Amino acid sequence: MGDHPQIFLTGGRWPPKRHVSHNGQVTDYSSGRTGYINSAARGATTTPAPADVLRFHRRMPGYAPTRLHESAELAGTLGVGRVFIKEEAVRFGLPAFKMVGASWAIHRALAERTEDPDFDWTFDDLAERFGGTGGMTLVCATDGNHGRAVAHGARMLGLGARVFVPAQIGRRAKEGIRSENADLVEVDAPYDDVVMEATAAADADPAAMMVQDTAWEGYEQIPAWIVEGYSTIFRELDAQLADAGLEGPDVMVTPCGVGSLIQATAAHYRGSDRSADSLKPSLLSVEPDGAPCLLESLKAGRPVAVATGHTRMAGLNCGNVSTIAWPILRDGIDAAVTITDDEDLAAVKELERLQIDAGPCGAASLAGLQRAFADPAMREGMAVTGQSVVVLLSTESREANPVED
Ligand SMILES: Cc1ncc(COP(=O)(O)O)c(C=O)c1O
Repeated sequence: MGDHPQIFLTGGRWPPKRHVSHNGQVTDYSSGRTGYINSAARGATTTPAPADVLRFHRRMPGYAPTRLHESAELAGTLGVGRVFIKEEAVRFGLPAFKMVGASWAIHRALAERTEDPDFDWTFDDLAERFGGTGGMTLVCATDGNHGRAVAHGARMLGLGARVFVPAQIGRRAKEGIRSENADLVEVDAPYDDVVMEATAAADADPAAMMVQDTAWEGYEQIPAWIVEGYSTIFRELDAQLADAGLEGPDVMVTPCGVGSLIQATAAHYRGSDRSADSLKPSLLSVEPDGAPCLLESLKAGRPVAVATGHTRMAGLNCGNVSTIAWPILRDGIDAAVTITDDEDLAAVKELERLQIDAGPCGAASLAGLQRAFADPAMREGMAVTGQSVVVLLSTESREANPVED
């Protein structure tokens, strides 16, 4: 197989039969699934997050950078130079990355309610200012991790929290939210409907502030701040890769639900402050095959809503791309794939064997890269070579969403 990775097709024949259409879409007929490539994406430019986000997080109680692992074994099996895993398994004591977004957004939203929004407010200042007043409740919908982060932030600040969840999410995710003293509201509906229900509840309550990690027309400011908050992950990564003697990744893999996290990936690596081509990696999005809202939108060239069902990758089980993410992802994402729950479970186990703590959403990055590399056209479209430096963003711990739940 020469340069190509050795395994990864779960069925079908090697090499897969492909059709590359005029708009760059790659269709893999052998497995009945499609991937997407945009060869112009590395030329896209967007606005990076403000520089003071990391400084804000560093001053929050409990801040510590997450670990960056290197796996020579994965580099060997994937046929690339080096593979790193950014392990978001413990963030401010929580088992997923979400608190970096929620904390920055809550802080910005509360600062706007003071007489001096531009003051350099810390979380502690805001707790002193707003806490214990009994006046405000933070409201959100979640598949688990975002809601726990909002509830945790509310608790740190002495505010109330009401968190709406699809009833079908895992037991551990619900327990995690309850453990933050939040009011948990279970709704027997998919995530996108739960967002609507939470929004209606927040609209009806003058003491409520909606803190949602996805945007829609008319609700864009708080999600934009959440995306800015995620930039801390990438600033840490820059420093960690520099310590390893590297300028940056050549390939960056991000799991995608509503697309806010990968919007932050794009904001960082397509930021107007990064002009040199060598600093612009290929960006790969990974979604569950049962919730491919970004892939379907990229293929259609416009936002497309998809019906969602059940997947172990609860945080990625979303039917709509965030409105503020869409134009950035349309222009700036090089490649998109979907994976099955079985492929994902195999990746959870492979990472566990390598002593990396990745839950189902976190391991999606590895499964998605394996999936993309199984198609030589995708590998080529992402400009991958035997020397490429790959970073897999692993977004949650096994504890956030145990596979046996
Ligand atoms: C663990 C985990 N990974 C990835 C994502 C995807 O992030 P986004 O919905 O911003 O695309 C989520 C979202 O909830 C998540 O909980």
